[in-house]
Amino acid sequence: MTTVSTTTSAATTVGEPADRRVVIFDTTLRDGEQSPGASMNLEEKLRVARVLEELGVDVIEAGFPIASNGDFEAVSAIGRELRQTTVAGLARAQRRDIDRCAEALAGASRRRIHTFISTSPLHMKYKLQMPAEQVLEAVGDSVRYARNLVDDVEWSAEDGSRTEHDFLCRCVEAAIAAGATTINIPDTVGYGVPEEYGALFSMLRLRVPNIDRAVLSVHCHNDLGLAVANSLAGVCHGARQVECTINGLGERAGNAALEELVMALRTRHDRLPYTTGIHTGTIMKASRLVSAITGFVVQPNKAIVGANAFAHESGIHQDGMLKHAGTYEIMTPESVGLVRAVADKAGLVLGKHSGRNAFRTRLRDLGYVLDDAGIDETFKRFKELADKKKEIFDEDLIALVDDQIGHAEDHIQFVSLEVLAGSKRPQRAELVLAIDGETRETAAGGNGPVDAIFNAIKALCPHEARLGLYQVHAVTAGTDAQAEVTVRLEDEDRSVVGRGADSDTLVASCRAYVHALNKLLVKRLRTAPSPLCA
Ligand code: KIV
Ligand code: ZN
Repeated sequence: MTTVSTTTSAATTVGEPADRRVVIFDTTLRDGEQSPGASMNLEEKLRVARVLEELGVDVIEAGFPIASNGDFEAVSAIGRELRQTTVAGLARAQRRDIDRCAEALAGASRRRIHTFISTSPLHMKYKLQMPAEQVLEAVGDSVRYARNLVDDVEWSAEDGSRTEHDFLCRCVEAAIAAGATTINIPDTVGYGVPEEYGALFSMLRLRVPNIDRAVLSVHCHNDLGLAVANSLAGVCHGARQVECTINGLGERAGNAALEELVMALRTRHDRLPYTTGIHTGTIMKASRLVSAITGFVVQPNKAIVGANAFAHESGIHQDGMLKHAGTYEIMTPESVGLVRAVADKAGLVLGKHSGRNAFRTRLRDLGYVLDDAGIDETFKRFKELADKKKEIFDEDLIALVDDQIGHAEDHIQFVSLEVLAGSKRPQRAELVLAIDGETRETAAGGNGPVDAIFNAIKALCPHEARLGLYQVHAVTAGTDAQAEVTVRLEDEDRSVVGRGADSDTLVASCRAYVHALNKLLVKRLRTAPSPLCA
């Protein structure tokens, strides 16, 4: 095995490539989805992919086709649907992986095979159990094989940031010689620090003779909270692609957050003079969608997309803001698509007297285009909410629509719920569901009102799934705020996330559980007749 030290860094900086456009490669649907509990079904992946295209990302990594049929179908369906965005599939350095990936991408108008192999001493010895020379050979073979199937091939050196420099240079040179058009150097375990990780790119650009024939790419994990800083350092040293995820979703501490990278490039253009094709006004929509689908709530103080990112609580700050927004705001909320106004563009305030047209227009402004049936159902729920809640915020509308989308086909529909709660009597839930169109009702007790509701659902729809997560969060401030509940159900090796929103936390809990159960049912029906709701 090669034993050259990784600290050999003859290069510090070399002249940067003249083109300052940075390619945004989003891997929410692949590296993000690998995060435990973040799995998405096909319909959900398609919804995320559509929003990513609207956001303007250049490349969407849609999955790892050999890993599962679900991943294969997702890459294939997303590839068939998207027209502007390049769709990438991941493949190990093996022919069967690459063939499966090419097969999944066959219908895509712009397609990329992304193949990778580990190059660090630790990974080669323990994970691959392959000598370095064999890995080097696999690099050339896999890229050449992929390049015979598609024109756009990305090669990644897994654990690249902990790879010996001499060996990394040889691998990169071999990958480019074999036809790789993008070279990605991941900081797989989030170990790098900005100066060191950035210098790696200057080192490659100085030492690899054919380096000008490929775009260099950064891919950083956030184990030390440095993923975005490391990615930006890579860009300053000549990388022109960044791999990232919405909300920084990803294994362990996650990947570099797309919204943070893009807004740093935009807000500090004076020091980071690079451009992207991202329509930043769609950032909030993408963030909310990914959070809603995965059930991964965005922490309130998360940069750019956290609920407090543009909130000003202290008197001194509020006073400054009133005098000049620039005193405490380095970017506008509108620039990331945060429109908090309760009024629409014509100044119409949404409330219980609003008509369908104002409602439809507001939804369209927020990026939701629903068919007539969708508008009917959501409008009905909006009116119910407006009766209970004084002010309706955009977040309320978004929660309602997210709760509504995709439920029309559900086998199990929520009809009504009555709950007896409090400290005196045993808690009890009376529940009515429509199962495949047939109304069924039951009553059940439990250890608390939520337990009683879930027991009632189980009585109507017997199942073995375990409750993996039950989470409640308020959509807006105030005691009349809607509750958004996330429920994760786990069944054998599968897990699904359901969400429900309502101004009554118990109704939202019931909706979320029923939503998750529907998703589980769809999964099961695909494979075998289901005993659910027998
Ligand atoms: O983190 C990593 O090394 C990866 C590669 C597969 C690109 O995700
Ligand atoms: Zn990764």
